[in-house]
Amino acid sequence: MAAYRVLKDKPYELIELLKTFKFDKESYIAIRSWDKEKNFKKRSDVERAARLIYLLKTCFNGLYRVSSKNHFNTPIGKFSFEPKICNEENLLAVHDYLKRNDTDIRCCSYVELFKEIPDDAFVYLDPPYAPISKTSYFTSYQSQVWNDNAQRTLAFFCRELDKRGIRFMQSNSTAPICFELYKQFNITTLNAKRFINADVAGRGDIKELVITNYDIESVL
Ligand SMILES: C[S@@+](CC[C@H](N)C(=O)[O-])C[C@H]1O[C@@H](n2cnc3c(N)ncnc32)[C@H](O)[C@@H]1O
Repeated sequence: MAAYRVLKDKPYELIELLKTFKFDKESYIAIRSWDKEKNFKKRSDVERAARLIYLLKTCFNGLYRVSSKNHFNTPIGKFSFEPKICNEENLLAVHDYLKRNDTDIRCCSYVELFKEIPDDAFVYLDPPYAPISKTSYFTSYQSQVWNDNAQRTLAFFCRELDKRGIRFMQSNSTAPICFELYKQFNITTLNAKRFINADVAGRGDIKELVITNYDIESVL
């Protein structure tokens, strides 16, 4: 979220810094280990945003993964081409979108937003996915756990949105719990391309769910 705020408010500082970051093992390890510094939080918001973008562009399979101490620990990626660390055109396009729409970027639990969501809003939810197999560890890439109870709380939230007549769309996995929790809503199965999975068999084309409380066909 902090990175999106920087993109909205300080895109040129961000781009200038990103342009100085190099793609080699030494630079990667140095930049990755900033979060082990005692004063990491005192680094500027631009530095932290640039670091995140750099790591996601250069790490293995774009995988955001942290240790139990919340240190980013994905190894450097393997590329057959030089990864584009600073895609200036794309960064400025995102900046322009956020600025033009006066986007309000928050870092908080979705639950806290319920009362603020206007009745004519459209809510898109992209939660940590329910695991589809014992080897899929989508729920543990981050230090906080997202378990079945968290999925149930989210389903409750969606039912509350529905009661208020607010349209929502949620992406999730094809785990049985999703079919169970959202059986009263429209569930569409889509083929999605995924490059991030602990299990090689889970990479490439996989199925995902799109759950809506309105007829998705009518808007396609
Ligand atoms: C599948 S990812 C979403 C990825 C995002 N759509 C993107 O394109 O970068 C799930 C996200 O949900 C966030 N999350 C976990 N618990 C949350 C909560 N209670 N409220 C809001 N977000 C939460 C996680 O931090 C994670 O970034």
